Amino acid sequence: MSTALITGASRGLGVVAARRLAAQGWTVLAGCREPGRLAETLDPALDIRPIALDVADDASVAAAVKEAEAHVDSLDVLVNNAAIVGEMVEPAEAGADVLREAYETNVFGLVRVTRAFLPLLRRAEQPRLVMVSSSLGSLADMSDWRWENHPYLAYPSSKAALNMISVMYARTMPDVLVTVVNPGFTATDLNDHQGTQTVEEGADAIVAAALDTTSPSGRFVERDGLVPW
Ligand SMILES: NC(=O)c1ccc[n+]([C@@H]2O[C@H](COP(=O)([O-])OP(=O)(O)OC[C@H]3O[C@@H](n4cnc5c(N)ncnc54)[C@H](OP(=O)(O)O)[C@@H]3O)[C@@H](O)[C@H]2O)c1
Repeated sequence: MSTALITGASRGLGVVAARRLAAQGWTVLAGCREPGRLAETLDPALDIRPIALDVADDASVAAAVKEAEAHVDSLDVLVNNAAIVGEMVEPAEAGADVLREAYETNVFGLVRVTRAFLPLLRRAEQPRLVMVSSSLGSLADMSDWRWENHPYLAYPSSKAALNMISVMYARTMPDVLVTVVNPGFTATDLNDHQGTQTVEEGADAIVAAALDTTSPSGRFVERDGLVPW
């Protein structure tokens, strides 16, 4: 039986990805800041186990490793999904504090979680890391001036950092299959439900990456194929 940990699984894409993997018989550890609230909403037929995990907090991450070890012997997949938009401040006005807040979750959070959970991940036969990014983190897309796009500094730059961190993981950990995923513009709380895809459509690429054991490591993918870096 396969196992996964998904961060930010209390709502949005994270909880849908958790349900989809659990529906295939997986045991899914659903990392969330308020596990009790998620537990109330779960279908008892699915093996989804909420665990307390605030990715922005070292002590919470360390405690989550211990809790995860009590549930599973190994993790086939770690999905780094938790993120915030952060303060929407245009580049000329954004100070370090604005970036620090978004990076604490979107960048430092995933580094913190990945390093802490690597030993459990490496106990699996085919360990996979799924890094949930965005087309807003693509330098190729964002430097295409034909696009009118998110004009704020924190979120896109945090996803660009995620992309490079993922490439570095892929280059240096040949035993771990690393896939960077763009879910696409999806109606969730993150964008006040302005996204044009359903949350099921948005979760497709995350679920596909979690299930994929054969593709090369270090790709940036979405539902319909590759995303330019
Ligand atoms: N929706 C889109 O259009 C879109 C497009 C491209 C990429 N993405 C990416 O997809 C991922 C999921 O986004 P979403 O749309 O599902 O967003 P969402 O509905 O806002 O959900 C975000 C999740 O992250 C969690 N989270 C935030 N800070 C956290 C922390 N410090 N520790 C643990 N969990 C934390 C939230 O938990 P709480 O409930 O505790 O706040 C929530 O579960 C993100 O990485 C996002 O950047 C989304």
